Amino acid sequence: MSKQSQAVSLAEEYYDSPEADAFYLNVWGGEDIHIGIYDTPGEDIAQASRRTVETMARRIPDLGPETRIMDLGAGYGGSARYLASEFGCRVTCLNLSETQNDLNREKNAETGLDGLIDVVHGSFENVPADDASYDVVWSQDAILHSGDRPKVISEIDRILKPGGHVTFTDPMQADDVPDGVLQPILDRIHLSTLGSFAFYRAEFAKHGFAEEDIDPMLDQLRTHYFRVGQVLKNDYDEIIKLSGKLYVDNMLRGLDHWVNGADKGYLAWGILHFSKT
Ligand SMILES: C[S@@+](CC[C@H](N)C(=O)[O-])C[C@H]1O[C@@H](n2cnc3c(N)ncnc32)[C@H](O)[C@@H]1O
Repeated sequence: MSKQSQAVSLAEEYYDSPEADAFYLNVWGGEDIHIGIYDTPGEDIAQASRRTVETMARRIPDLGPETRIMDLGAGYGGSARYLASEFGCRVTCLNLSETQNDLNREKNAETGLDGLIDVVHGSFENVPADDASYDVVWSQDAILHSGDRPKVISEIDRILKPGGHVTFTDPMQADDVPDGVLQPILDRIHLSTLGSFAFYRAEFAKHGFAEEDIDPMLDQLRTHYFRVGQVLKNDYDEIIKLSGKLYVDNMLRGLDHWVNGADKGYLAWGILHFSKT
């Protein structure tokens, strides 16, 4: 099996598992499962996570009913519902996990947004969409799961219309990291590398994209993983009933690695926004 398809099938298996599904539903409430932007370190996770969506949306010019958006790795579709309900945008949610896609479809129907949102099963390494068919490509904390990020960027270039925008967040490594120090984090997500600001800048430059806005916020990654750990410890007995002790204990260890990596300055996170000239 190639490295690319191995990374894709591991991500699919992980997000489809009942343990992961129960964890994400109960800690984030089944909407946004990405790093939040916190006003205060103790803020509610869902509220901070929603602020990330609002912050990204504010930076894209002219969102409206004419805007077609592709969300790569869309999770439960919280961002799509926000973009559809606030701006009337038409959104395609591409996601590997059919467990998440089912809940996404249910929530879209419940909120009456299913006419604006399509939920599609597939991988962002091979996007099932026509060339130049989207105005905006959006992605939150998903591209890290790819075993072939240059391919994902080629796909973004292919499906965007000229003048289109791409905005995304991704847990990344710092531009300069000593060899080997990220191994505990990489092992946990079954990957050999993470992206970095330097990597994404260079890749989008190769495709002729212009940099609109690069906003590093490593402190938010640190706050977020610490906050998720706090919630897990506080509600431990309840959450192990849903996700199992093994899953939760592994998650707690994984979160510690992210927090330590952030404290040492080995990691990076933030909003990246480029446009196709
Ligand atoms: C941390 S979650 C973020 C979900 C969503 N973007 C959000 O912010 O709520 C990562 C998502 O990436 C999806 N994913 C991972 N690898 C993928 C791939 N190759 N193609 C499409 N989606 C993928 C997972 O199924 C999961 O929904």
